[in-house]
Amino acid sequence: MLVLLTETVEEGSQTAARLVGQAITKNPALRLGLAAGQSPIGLYRTLVNLYQSAQLDFSRVQIFGLDELLGLPRNSPRSYHTFFHHHLLRHVNVDPAHLHLLNGQTDEDMASYCASYERLIRDHGGIDLQILGIGRNGHLGFNEPGSSLNSRTRVSLLSVQTKENFAQVFDQMPLPERAVTLGLGTIREARALLLLAFGKHKAEAVANALEGPLSASNPASSIQLHPTAILVLDRDAASFLTNQEYYRQEASQLRVLLPEWLR
Ligand code: GLP
Repeated sequence: MLVLLTETVEEGSQTAARLVGQAITKNPALRLGLAAGQSPIGLYRTLVNLYQSAQLDFSRVQIFGLDELLGLPRNSPRSYHTFFHHHLLRHVNVDPAHLHLLNGQTDEDMASYCASYERLIRDHGGIDLQILGIGRNGHLGFNEPGSSLNSRTRVSLLSVQTKENFAQVFDQMPLPERAVTLGLGTIREARALLLLAFGKHKAEAVANALEGPLSASNPASSIQLHPTAILVLDRDAASFLTNQEYYRQEASQLRVLLPEWLR
């Protein structure tokens, strides 16, 4: 695992955006998996800036989604679909035919919908770069503690803690109970993972993911099995890691460890 330790969220977002930008420059038809949540907002903002200053072209990029809340219409202000459009997609030149976000309100039977989403990913040759956040309880996407490390795209039940995180956003509305998510096995099939975590409230989850035992109780530990898992952390999110000396190395020195297509 490659940890890029940055001083601020801003610097972390720019570091992550440089990697994504580099991947798109080297492969204009990159298959990019997006994640929702607070953590990648600065990354998306930086990508939009790069596009607006003509340094990035999204016209051939294929977009996939990590997860989506179930039962919300796509255009609900609370859907991840809306989130992705608001923070990234409507600002860049992604071809609508290249958008393959998960649908939280499909008429299809969910089991066959999930199987068809897996097929869609495969038919496009797999996801190259999957952006990830991490839940405070170690969830990845909506793979809550107890998810099989080999799980596939499926419907998941939100844990009490995850639902509580939504309390503010949903205000008086009923909290979401279920979501559709790429499985941990599906996520690990991406050629590279780019996990972003910022803030003290993520420190424990980050330490457990990197240095804790590999366990279904800690879904994010599944990234330990991935040969190209890149973590962009600020000092607070990294503060519970024991191997600080190593992580403190200059990002430029660590860059040599990246695969060629991300350098
Ligand atoms: C949410 C989502 C994930 C997200 C994670 C972290 O519940 N299911 O897609 O990556 O939790 O979110 P945040 O970045 O807002 O902390």
